This record gives sequence, C-alpha cells and structure tokens, in this order.
Amino acid sequence: MRDYLMLINRESAPVAHVPGEREQLVPVGGTGVLLERQAAYALELLMERIDGWNRIVPVSGWRSGEEQRRIWDESLRENGMEFTKTYVALPGHSEHESGLAIDLGLKKETIDFIRPDFPYDGICGTFRECAPDYGFIERYPGGKEAVTGIGHEPWHFRYIGTPHARILTDAGLTLEEYTAYRMPERGRGA
Ligand code: DAL
Ligand code: ZN
Repeated sequence: MRDYLMLINRESAPVAHVPGEREQLVPVGGTGVLLERQAAYALELLMERIDGWNRIVPVSGWRSGEEQRRIWDESLRENGMEFTKTYVALPGHSEHESGLAIDLGLKKETIDFIRPDFPYDGICGTFRECAPDYGFIERYPGGKEAVTGIGHEPWHFRYIGTPHARILTDAGLTLEEYTAYRMPERGRGA
C-alpha cells in the first residue's frame, strides 16, 4: 500500500523507491495532467462538490525526474538560483515526482507555470476550505518556509489522505511537523 504520508523534501526523498508508479497514474480534470489514482479520485470528488473545474485548472501534476530536472534548469537560467531554490524542488526531491502533488490555477488567459495564481478567496478559497476533507493539504504555507524549505506556494496541494489532512490543517502543522509525531518504526527510536 502507498504511504500517503511519506515526507518528500530537501532532506528526504523516497520517490525513487515507489514501485509501479506509472501504472497508478490517471488524468484529472479532462486534461493530460496526471495524478496517482487515489489522489485523482479524491480530487475529482472534491471538484464535483464545488463545481470547481469551471474556474480552476490543473497546471502540473505528476512529473518525471527528467521533467523536474528540465524545470529546474530552465528556471535557473531564467530566474536565477534564489528564486529557483525557493519555488522549484531539486530533481529527485519533488512531491510532483510521486504523483501525490498538484498545482492548481485560477482559470485565466495566461497562467504562470511555476507560480500560478490561486488566491485565498472565491472558488480557490472554497477549494482550500474543503480540500482537507478530501485528503489534500496546502503543503507550503506562508510563515513555514524555514520548516518546509520552500517558499509560500498557495497553489501546491499534496494528497496525504483522510483524516490526516483535516487534523494537520486544523492544527496548523506542516507535513514535516505532523510526521515527526508518528510512531517510531519497530526496532528504531525509543
Ligand atoms: N514547486 C515545488 C516545490 C516542486 O517543484 O516540487
Ligand atoms: Zn507544485
């Protein structure tokens, strides 16, 4: 079974160790954007509830390691190291490579691929309020940059499942903080 709580960040990157990834990917929102099967199902249910696909577009879901590398290199060239480190995970260390993360954008004529507009009000606000009940968390909140290692990303949502997403969100925790409370594995820890 997938470990939907797995921590993927600068220090921890179990992405490469997840077998059968490609077979488990399905498209969302009638686009070519792919997500892991269970995450995709939860997202479709949520969007149906809020009639979201009329005003919200999936911008980026699953990425191969090569795609993450291409995004990193391009951003480095165009935006420099500081910006890139803030908004693009190192190749091999992106949640997008797991199929459990999605960037969403408010539907408009031009959408920024790295930093899509996903405000805190309107339909995006409604999405944000309901997301934890469907297993999604806002993964990189403002004020927690030092903990996550990534800048504030209002558009990036990570599937961790229920009831974890609701508990984490209501407690105001990041995934780093939440998983630190998990029971130590057998033979490890105290
Ligand atoms: N934008 C997030 C951090 C990523 O590249 O995975
Ligand atoms: Zn993202």
